[in-house]
Amino acid sequence: MKKFFKVLIIILVAVVLIAGCFALFLSVRGIPNYEAVDPGIKIVSDSARIERGRILANMLCADCHKNPETGKLTGANMDPLGKLPFGKLMSQNITQDKTVGIGNWTDGEIVYLLRTGIKKDGQYSPPWMAKLPHMSDEDVASIISFLRSDDVMVNADATPDIPCEPSFFAKFLCLVAFKPLPYPDKVIEQPDTSNKIDWGKYLVWNLDCFTCHSADFAKLNSMEPQLSAGYLGGGNFMDSLFTPNITPDKETGIGMWTEEKFINSLRYGIKPGGGVNRMPMKPYNLLSESECKAIYAYLQTVPPIKNAVSRNAVY
Ligand code: HEC
Ligand code: HEC
Repeated sequence: MKKFFKVLIIILVAVVLIAGCFALFLSVRGIPNYEAVDPGIKIVSDSARIERGRILANMLCADCHKNPETGKLTGANMDPLGKLPFGKLMSQNITQDKTVGIGNWTDGEIVYLLRTGIKKDGQYSPPWMAKLPHMSDEDVASIISFLRSDDVMVNADATPDIPCEPSFFAKFLCLVAFKPLPYPDKVIEQPDTSNKIDWGKYLVWNLDCFTCHSADFAKLNSMEPQLSAGYLGGGNFMDSLFTPNITPDKETGIGMWTEEKFINSLRYGIKPGGGVNRMPMKPYNLLSESECKAIYAYLQTVPPIKNAVSRNAVY
């Protein structure tokens, strides 16, 4: 019996030591680095691309990167209330400043980060920085044209970056779950806008509707969004709200919504029963009427999921 306890204690001490070494390794190593590649793309800017890029960047980048004090993309604290378990999350200065911004990044380096999540110095940006694996080459070129334009939001501004301080949990996730995405091996074409359903799918995938409106951020499939758990069936908890079910289920989704009701909700934030959509659902007033119609048409074709989501806020 005595021998048994001795062995047990040795095993326990060994386990604690191994766990301790692992924890030390993880906290010292931090977020892993990967090989950074510059695909050598040079983007030719024109006014149509800058305009398209302005719309996309306002819908996709400004939420996180726009600083309310400077009014520019100088970076902001993304979790001011410290509610998330990932540590200090600061988006960075992406104005044209050559030192703190991205003025000295090549077009290729920006494209590589947006596609894969790997920065020019090899540092990996976990999923709290947007990735664009499905966006057409043309739309990505538009975003970069806008970032290089003379818009006040992106003009060089020397507001210093505040670095992220990822928590132990965030570092752990980067070891086991979060990995860079593959760089596309072929051209990604523009969606066929004469096919409403394809066009709508493109928008739902690229405007991140599915990331919020599927069951759980931890169970998303970025490369094949339709395989995400509870695809568009809602129930993802955000701040204080569960996201609604936007599949065409007639009782628990939006299967009974007319196109008009849908557009009012998506574009202007007006709920069918009166009242307005609460944050983080913003009014997508930069989407055109045809884009909203395409999204509606696509959503009518996804597999309906029966999932009654509570719409009450939880604090
Ligand atoms: C959900 C929030 C979020 C969105 C949306 C987002 N970003 Fe970021 N971005 C971040 C965070 C956080 C970092 C810092 C990540 C890090 O240091 O690992 C970052 C870093 C970057 C960097 C690297 C800057 C540097 O100096 O290291 C670039 C470039 C960038 N983002 C561009 C964009 C563009 C362009 C868009 C829109 C297509 C975008 N981001 C959308 C949160 C976001
Ligand atoms: C940042 C997360 C987030 C993103 C991105 C997002 N939504 Fe939402 N959405 C929400 C939340 C949360 C609500 C619930 C708001 C409320 O209950 O007041 C909502 C509400 C809605 C509603 C109203 C549903 C109802 O039953 O009232 C529709 C329709 C909708 N979103 C469609 C979309 C589409 C289409 C996109 C992409 C263009 C999108 N959402 C992007 C979080 C998001």
